[in-house]
Amino acid sequence: MSGTDEYVLDYIMLNKDTIQGKVSELASSIRREYEGREVVMIGVLKGAAIFMADLVRCVGPSVDVKMDFIAVSSYGNSSTSSGIVKLVKDMDTYAGGKNLILVEDIMDTGLTLAYLREMFTARAPKSFRTCVLLEKPARKKVETAIDYKGFAVDDEFVVGYGLDYAGKWRHLPDIWRVAKRV
Ligand code: IMP
Ligand code: MG
Repeated sequence: MSGTDEYVLDYIMLNKDTIQGKVSELASSIRREYEGREVVMIGVLKGAAIFMADLVRCVGPSVDVKMDFIAVSSYGNSSTSSGIVKLVKDMDTYAGGKNLILVEDIMDTGLTLAYLREMFTARAPKSFRTCVLLEKPARKKVETAIDYKGFAVDDEFVVGYGLDYAGKWRHLPDIWRVAKRV
């Protein structure tokens, strides 16, 4: 067996209604905090693209939402994190003096988020917050705060709703656990 064939979809861990309910809660928290103000929401490509698209639409017109994206790649294979993050695409917006919210799909070891927090806070924004859909507490290696948190999940590899395994399964509306093919 080679490539992505060694993994298969096992079962749905979070279905699309559960996800949408949480996205709407997170958007309400953001709305309460930023009502009448500008906020630049920065999605981390490609994993957060779908979450970001749903999230901004739930925030509504009372917040002046601007959208931007960055792309990072972490060295190593696709199911473990090396902690070395390479910025492949930077945001287009000037971050200085802005309210920033970084939107991420999942925090695993926390190394990516810790790296990005340091990078963005060095740019002297007015504020910097993080919004992360999934967290795997059991895998945490560094302590870094999530301001708007979706779900805590067990130490399982998950795909769907933007999350991939080797580029696969991002387009699924639910979040699935994947398993090794037996
Ligand atoms: P961290 O630096 O270890 O926190 O890794 C974060 C990145 O690893 C995420 O942005 C994902 O790209 C990837 N990742 C970690 N766990 C999973 C998973 O279960 N499914 C898909 N991607 C994951
Ligand atoms: Mg990823």
